[in-house]
Amino acid sequence: MSIFEPDDPAFLQNPYPVYQHLLAETPTFYHEDSQLWFFTRHHDVDAILRDRRFGRSILHLMSREELDIPPPNAAYEPFHKLGQHSMFDKEPPEHTRLRTLVHKAFTPRRIRDMQHSIEAIAQNLVDSMQQREQVDLLADYAAPLSVRVIAELLGIPEADQHRLRPWSNAIVKLYELDHTPAQADHAIQASQEFADYLKFLARKRREQPRDDLITALVMVEEAGDQLSEDEYVSTCVLLLNAGHEATVNVVGNGWLALFRHPQQLEKLRANPELVPTAIEEFMRYDSPLQMFRRWILEDMTYDGLPLKKGMQVGLIFGAANHDPAVFQQPASLDITRSPNPHISFGGGIHYCLGAPLARMELQVAYQTLLAHLPAMQLAADPTFNPAFVIHGLKELQVTL
Ligand code: HEM
Repeated sequence: MSIFEPDDPAFLQNPYPVYQHLLAETPTFYHEDSQLWFFTRHHDVDAILRDRRFGRSILHLMSREELDIPPPNAAYEPFHKLGQHSMFDKEPPEHTRLRTLVHKAFTPRRIRDMQHSIEAIAQNLVDSMQQREQVDLLADYAAPLSVRVIAELLGIPEADQHRLRPWSNAIVKLYELDHTPAQADHAIQASQEFADYLKFLARKRREQPRDDLITALVMVEEAGDQLSEDEYVSTCVLLLNAGHEATVNVVGNGWLALFRHPQQLEKLRANPELVPTAIEEFMRYDSPLQMFRRWILEDMTYDGLPLKKGMQVGLIFGAANHDPAVFQQPASLDITRSPNPHISFGGGIHYCLGAPLARMELQVAYQTLLAHLPAMQLAADPTFNPAFVIHGLKELQVTL
């Protein structure tokens, strides 16, 4: 039996002892159940992310019949459509085209301009929490913060913002290695509703443009080229999903790590200027996204291993971030760790487009809590959601 059991409840609560074992004994291995070659070493994960012989998509090179993948289930069409038109699942030249167009709208200036809004949103949430003795740091702070930030950036009216997280939560369930039929139904319905809503907003912004990202995406043009309606919808959904699930979990996982390392928490409270390096360490220490896949785009030998075109590899970011070949004492939380070449934002052509926004948002999220809730303490030992890829807590109850 493999020691890697991605369904094992104990593994999902704390995957790091298994990773340590894998890194020491079998850093690259084939996992029969998921039919994936898994890589755990930092060097390999980083190299494969940058190696163009691996890609996020293969359907431009091989048909479904050749891959032995059944034809797409027509019932999943609304969900598949979101992926089919997003840069996330594209390879060059389509990926380059989409990323260039989106980047023209999602500019550094637009992100920098969000700083004051993010501070106001965080302050507002802290003010509401201060009315209570105990709160769930995820549901009462991290989740509404990151949803409001991305919603405000896109220009989603406040009255509709409550619809975003349920849609996103439902859709991302289909990214896990496994899901139930009920979760699939839910995700399909959410995909359809969300797409319809975004098309409605696009029509409104075309009639009455505003200074928001939706208007910019609807209007963006590069050398006579524009985003199609489907591409615009897929991009908004990607920005929302990619833009908040991971950020929420860096707040939850990071605070849990601090509560479990009281000396580090004390140090951070005394030296809030350490927040930027602390955030990089939270992302390394307990990565919010544990694994990404790549297709093998050509027959090859990688590090002596024969890999066949049409198969997939799994890159375990959580393990790479604990590789002792790169990180001294990887199991220790060190909020001053520098350099910290963690891999949590990926690498190569799909490197996280939202990394500058995520970093800004996380800094504000931590600084606001440190400044206004100096006595915050863990109220109950939390548990992680039973999911491998999106690694985050169910809740994080704290007393103020
Ligand atoms: C701490 C928070 C975040 C983490 C850990 C994270 C992580 C990642 C990773 C690992 C990838 C690459 C996936 C791959 O190579 O297969 C990625 C891609 C992406 N991320 Fe993030 N992300 C975060 C926040 C954000 C935010 C706030 C946004 C935008 C609002 C965003 C937008 C994107 C987009 C659009 C892509 C696709 C890029 C492409 O395919 O070229 N992310 N993210």
